[in-house]
Amino acid sequence: MKFELQYTDAQSKARVGEITTDHGKIQTPIFMPVGTQGTVKAVHQRELKEDVKAEIILGNTYHLYLRPGLETIEQAGGLHKFNGWDKPILTDSGGYQVFSLSNNRKIKEEGVVFKSHIDGSKHVFTPENIMDIQRTIGADIIMAFDECTPYPCDHQYAKTSMERTHRWLKRCVDRFDSTEDKYGYSQTLFPIVQGSTFKDLRIQSAETIASFEREGNAIGGLSVGEPAEDMYEMTDLVTDILPKDKPRYLMGVGTPANILEGIGLGIDMFDCVMPTRQARHGQLFTTQGIINIKNQKWERDFSPIDEELGGYVSTFYSKAYLRHLMRAQELLAAQIASVHNLTFYLWLVKEARKHIIEGDFREWKDIMVKKLMQRL
Ligand code: GUN
Repeated sequence: MKFELQYTDAQSKARVGEITTDHGKIQTPIFMPVGTQGTVKAVHQRELKEDVKAEIILGNTYHLYLRPGLETIEQAGGLHKFNGWDKPILTDSGGYQVFSLSNNRKIKEEGVVFKSHIDGSKHVFTPENIMDIQRTIGADIIMAFDECTPYPCDHQYAKTSMERTHRWLKRCVDRFDSTEDKYGYSQTLFPIVQGSTFKDLRIQSAETIASFEREGNAIGGLSVGEPAEDMYEMTDLVTDILPKDKPRYLMGVGTPANILEGIGLGIDMFDCVMPTRQARHGQLFTTQGIINIKNQKWERDFSPIDEELGGYVSTFYSKAYLRHLMRAQELLAAQIASVHNLTFYLWLVKEARKHIIEGDFREWKDIMVKKLMQRL
């Protein structure tokens, strides 16, 4: 993987860059649609490429390991071959899902023992087997095995957990660096900064993560219920420490406003279930603000979902028609709304990129944060 930093904003920490992987280039800042089970929910690969214009998607180690399982993925020739997505993929390590989804999990120094949320079967994740599993899934960018601390969490717990995450990172790196790519293209490992909402811990964690000198770095443990100001404060602290010449990924973030603020704080990569999950509940992010398409207000509004955004579904279908599909619980409702919301998120980061290059990112961001978060 290669990262080229192309522009740095004079009035904020925003940057424009380009990541090159063996599955193609990614222009940063970028939003990565979440494809937990090897599919971005309700969206075909062709729509993801041609309508949404996604450049990289996520997969999840926890889910893919439990179902369909590694033998199937390996026999297919890796996740790209299995799901037909030939552009870059990033897999999260399971360090988040194992804590949020599984039952009866026990954290030990060795790793985490947990029961599957699907059939209750018992499994163990360790830093070593998580590297092996992600080698087999075959994503271009893979994540270190970490603990995402809950919020709120006391200083002592956050410190103990962070220190264990750092020891796990050393084991991840040792395993990753002593094993080979399986499918003839190269993979890279990103470590994850933790430390909850404590400044001293975040500084310590960012310094430790930077010292590993990997090709990119991530910030975890945020957007877990803390006030947005705390998330921005922690991000600001950490991006002052992480190297400038490597991509920075803020995990699990967030709303359109969170993404614009994150870009201003020097973040290059984002992922979040929000655009697809909210789409399935009828919440649409548009260039004019947020719409709840189920509201009666849209019953006879035959104007396109979002004329200004452009794109196929957003200009072809009307608000009234989508409202009808949503209320009738038609499957097409989830498809249209998901493609629309993802098209909006990719548009948002592309606009941000353009404004960083043009030199008016900060003014534009301040206007957009207000405009995009208003409820219509
Ligand atoms: N996704 C959102 N936050 C996190 C985190 O802290 N760790 C991991 N592994 N994934 C995440």
